[in-house]
Amino acid sequence: MKQITASELVKNSSYINGRWCDTPARFAVVNPANQQLLLEVADAGAAEAEQAVLAASAAFASWAALPAAKRSELLLRWYQLVMQHQQDLARLLTLEQGKPLSEAKGEIAYGASYMQWFAEEAKRLYGDTIPAPSADKRIIVQRQPVGVVTAITPWNFPNAMIARKAAAALAAGCSFVVKPAQQTPLSALALAELAEQAGIPAGVFNVVVGSDAKTIGAVLTQHPKVAKFSFTGSTAVGKQLLKQCADGVKRVTMELGGNAPFIVFDDADLDAAVQGLLASKFRNAGQTCVCANRILVQRGVYQAFADKLAIAITSLKVGDGVNSDSQIGPLIDDKALQKVTALVQGAVAEGAKLLLGGSSHSAGKQFFQPTLITEVSADMAISKEEIFGPVAPLMVFDSEAEAIALANSTDYGLAAYFYSRDIGRVFRVAQQLQFGMVGINEGIISNAAAPFGGVKQSGFGREGAKYGLDDYTDIKYLCLGGL
Ligand code: SIN
Repeated sequence: MKQITASELVKNSSYINGRWCDTPARFAVVNPANQQLLLEVADAGAAEAEQAVLAASAAFASWAALPAAKRSELLLRWYQLVMQHQQDLARLLTLEQGKPLSEAKGEIAYGASYMQWFAEEAKRLYGDTIPAPSADKRIIVQRQPVGVVTAITPWNFPNAMIARKAAAALAAGCSFVVKPAQQTPLSALALAELAEQAGIPAGVFNVVVGSDAKTIGAVLTQHPKVAKFSFTGSTAVGKQLLKQCADGVKRVTMELGGNAPFIVFDDADLDAAVQGLLASKFRNAGQTCVCANRILVQRGVYQAFADKLAIAITSLKVGDGVNSDSQIGPLIDDKALQKVTALVQGAVAEGAKLLLGGSSHSAGKQFFQPTLITEVSADMAISKEEIFGPVAPLMVFDSEAEAIALANSTDYGLAAYFYSRDIGRVFRVAQQLQFGMVGINEGIISNAAAPFGGVKQSGFGREGAKYGLDDYTDIKYLCLGGL
C-alpha cells in the first residue's frame, strides 16, 4: 500500500450516504501474486446493505430532478479525477487483482471511458412525439430513471465493471449501490472517494463491501426500495439472483458467463489471427467472460497456425503484475488454479495433446503456465466450460457449416470471434453466430461506444453505447386529450 501516492484512495470500509462506515468485523484483502495481506476491511452485512439502499432511495428524487447537463458535469468531473489518478488506481488494482500494471492502467482508462461516454449520453435522453389516431389528442413519450439501482460486480475487472454500470445509472438519473467482489473491494472504494471529490451528492453512489455475498445480495435483490438490479458474474450465480429478483419484479441486467469460439478459416491472415488470439485469450491471464475459450482452426491451416501460436505463447512473460515486463499475472485464488489444472489434465486424459505448459508456474503459488493444447474435441469438459485461465485449446474443423455448428453448440452466447478475408464468408458467418458480440478479424471488442452483452444463457441487457441507458429508464407515455 506504500506504493500508492494519493493515500486518500486507500479506504477500508463501506461508503454509504457520503460516509465511511466502520464495522467491528473485518475481512482480509490479499495480494494474489504472493498471498500477502494488503488490508483488513470492515465487513458489512445486511444492515449496511439496507442503509445503503435507504440512502440511495432518499437521494434519488433530487438526483433525478437535476438538469441532465448538471449530472453530465459531475460525471465528467469523476472521469477527470479517475484519469488524474490512473497510475495509483492501476497499482491498487494490480495489488488486489493481479493483472499486469499495463493492463490495469488500460482497465482504469476503459472504466473511465464509460463515465465520459455516459456524461455525454445523459444529455441525449430523448423521448418522442407520436402522431395520434385522432385530431384532439397528442402522444408524448418520455424516458424516466427507474429509481434505485443495485449491482454486484466481479473481481476480474474491479474498476471497469462498476464504472460501466454506475455511469449509465447516474447519467439516467438513478441512484446506485454496488457490492464489489470480496477479493477486490479496494478499487471500488477508491472510486467512491473520487465520486465524493467530484461532488456527486451523498447517497447517489454507495459501495457496500463485505464477505457475505449471499446476505448482502439478498438485500440488493429483494429490498422493496430497489427498482433495478444489475449483475456481472457467473451464469450459475446469475440464475439464483434472477430468481430472487422475480418476486419484486425488479428490472434486471445480467452479464453472465461465456464460452467464446475463436474460428480461424483457411483464408485468414494467420499472423493477425495469432495476435488477435493472444489478446483475446491471454488478457487478464484468461480470466474474462469474453476470452476465446474454444479455438476452432480449419484443417488446411491447422498446423501452420498451431506452430505460429506456439512461438507467440512461448514469448509471454509470466510474473507479478507490478513488474513492468509481466504479461501474465496470477490466477485470482487457489480454487481457480485447481479448476484450470483439472480442465487441462482432464483434456489430456481424454486424448488431447499438451504442446506447452499445463501446470502451475514457478513465479508463485497461484500462477499457471501459458498453455497450448491441440487435438481437443467438442465433448471434452474444457470445450464446455469457461476455462478462466491462460489455456488455449485447439480443435480442427473442415467446413464452414461445421465451424458454425461447433461454435453455436453451447448454452452461452456472449462473444465470438472469427478470422477470414472472404467478404462473403464474413457476412454469412457473422449472421449465423448466435452471440451478442462478434469480433471479425479482431480479438479485442470492448469499448464504451459499443453495446456489451450476450444472448442465450450469457444473459440480457446491454452496457455501453446509446443502448446503455435503456435498462436504466422506464418509458412513460403521456396522452394529451381534449385539444
Ligand atoms: C468481463 O469479462 O466480464 C468483461 C470483459 C470486458 O468488458 O471486456
